[in-house]
Amino acid sequence: MTTLVVGANGNIGKIFCRLAAERKLPVRALLRNPEQQAYFDSIGVETALGDLEGAFEASMEDCDRVVFTAGSGGKTGGDKTLLVDLYGAIRVIEASEARGIEHIVMVSAMGVDDPLAGRPAMQHYFVAKKLADQRLRESSVAHTILRPGLLTDEPASGNVRTDLAAGSGHSISRENVALCILASLDHLQSRGQTIDLLDGDMPIATLFE
Ligand SMILES: NC(=O)c1ccc[n+]([C@@H]2O[C@H](COP(=O)([O-])OP(=O)(O)OC[C@H]3O[C@@H](n4cnc5c(N)ncnc54)[C@H](OP(=O)(O)O)[C@@H]3O)[C@@H](O)[C@H]2O)c1
Repeated sequence: MTTLVVGANGNIGKIFCRLAAERKLPVRALLRNPEQQAYFDSIGVETALGDLEGAFEASMEDCDRVVFTAGSGGKTGGDKTLLVDLYGAIRVIEASEARGIEHIVMVSAMGVDDPLAGRPAMQHYFVAKKLADQRLRESSVAHTILRPGLLTDEPASGNVRTDLAAGSGHSISRENVALCILASLDHLQSRGQTIDLLDGDMPIATLFE
């Protein structure tokens, strides 16, 4: 059995796949384009081709867990937010239910519970993420929802904070998020939890203790 990584070629996805390979955790990277395969070959990670705006279900064969860290990104329009961040996530959740996937770790975003409180340009994105998270909570699949703040490319400190009020700063290293995904997969206690994530001083190893 293996873990399907949806959004594997993204910033978090690539780091997560590398860390998983270093730990000998079997993962399969879902890619949109065969030209993206070389990196995953170089780190010894299996790949499958598929697209959230088309067919991807075959990539789930023999998978028991899913990490969802796909996103349409800031350079596309609201149409892609709808098709990828919302409907793509819902389709992955529904396919996971149909295939009896055991656990989904969803990379959501901080602040999505109250979309209208966000910057106007971000509100539709927060709505998409909020509704995808809601669909996941209503699903039959065990899940962990991680809600990072502003993502940075700093190296992992290995420490995070989950209480927004307990400090200043609104960002988190993508590598720290990848370590939190690994911790979520490792710990049964992570299931059913929705967790805000910022860089902080709590060791990620203790996140689910
Ligand atoms: N940026 C922030 O500050 C921030 C804050 C909180 C949460 N988040 C969330 O964090 C997550 C990951 O962030 P990131 O920086 O790693 O994102 P990223 O680098 O933009 O990666 C997104 C990945 O999603 C994939 N994708 C897009 N459309 C797809 C489709 N139709 N089918 C399959 N895959 C598709 C992309 O594929 P290609 O490589 O083929 O383009 C890419 O690999 C996203 O869900 C984002 O919303 C971001």
